[in-house]
Amino acid sequence: MASSFRVWHCLLVFSLLSSVACGQLTPTFYATSCPTLELVVRSTMTQALAAERRMGASLLRLFFHDCFVQGCDGSVLLDDVGSFIGEKTAAPNAGSVRGFEVIDQIKTNVEAVCPGVVSCADIVALAARDGAFLLGGPSWAVPLGRRDSTTASLTDANNDLPAPTLSLSGLITAYGNKGLNARDLTALSGAHTIGFSQCLNFRDHIYNDTNVDAAFATLRRANCPVAPGSGDTNLAPLDAQTQLVFDNAYYGNLLSQRGLLHSDQELFNGGSQDALVQEYSTNPALFAADFVTAMIKMGNIRPLTGSDGQIRANCRVVNS
Ligand code: HEM
Ligand SMILES: *[C@@H]1O[C@H](CO)[C@@H](O)[C@H](O)[C@H]1NC(C)=O
Repeated sequence: MASSFRVWHCLLVFSLLSSVACGQLTPTFYATSCPTLELVVRSTMTQALAAERRMGASLLRLFFHDCFVQGCDGSVLLDDVGSFIGEKTAAPNAGSVRGFEVIDQIKTNVEAVCPGVVSCADIVALAARDGAFLLGGPSWAVPLGRRDSTTASLTDANNDLPAPTLSLSGLITAYGNKGLNARDLTALSGAHTIGFSQCLNFRDHIYNDTNVDAAFATLRRANCPVAPGSGDTNLAPLDAQTQLVFDNAYYGNLLSQRGLLHSDQELFNGGSQDALVQEYSTNPALFAADFVTAMIKMGNIRPLTGSDGQIRANCRVVNS
């Protein structure tokens, strides 16, 4: 009875709204169960960015690292405890991915108003949107209704997160494996309009690649010594022009061979994405629209919905 009602209800909703089907995410998921959710996330994010503006970038990246590993299920948030091994020690995450304390703070504030109903996975999705928006980027209605995983995968984190050493075809394959196309790749890479990279991730590019502006290479080499192991964690801005403003300057940098990562410059290196990079560099509205579309698509990678997974009480540990 209950399940047949659910099927009928979903079909009805589907026929009325046609863009919403059963089991899918929707921006109104918490409209009755937690109406103040988005205000709580926004105010906590505003405080976090007042303390450190870079945090907007860090949380945008955290969402990417969640979604590419097992889907957008909060798996990246799980700590290693006892026999449980999470994703935090994976090569792309270790000493690099950040913002967990801010997620904890948002979760605490959300639990205070709506205990037990909002997933950590959805909090990450909202924090990512707010991080981009508060640094000057577009806003959008975030589809919600994800549930939290009871598992994590160190192996998938090592295998599925694209490395900055990848070629354009390697990047396209990595995104294709997640149901994202080359246009999504190029639009999402625009997230590198904000935030920083450590020297170890761009050393090879600024010393060994030939498609790097000479003055730019000299500038970046000054704070990133050639010898592996020296200055590995020194930071440089991903966007040489406006490192803490979400704009389209990233694409202009690529046109002038001032992409910081090898993978960034691969998007404008005589290949299939050159024309799109050029378009985004002159048309910020097109970039913003495509970025939003691709963020929503990325946010839809294998979410747990319905009665799958759980609503974690503490984002760092599976409920006991
Ligand atoms: C195309 C494949 C991608 C590669 C190879 C890549 C690689 C990297 C690397 C190596 C860093 C620097 C990490 C460090 O040195 O600690 C970084 C930072 C960052 N990435 Fe990506 N990334 C990619 C796509 C994305 C996507 C899709 C997003 C979000 C939509 C994103 C958002 C960011 C942000 C915002 C930062 C700066 C974080 C901070 O300052 O804390 N990246 N990325
Ligand atoms: C440049 O490439 C060579 C050959 O692959 C490698 O041995 C060297 O470590 C690279 N240098 C840097 C700074 O990455």
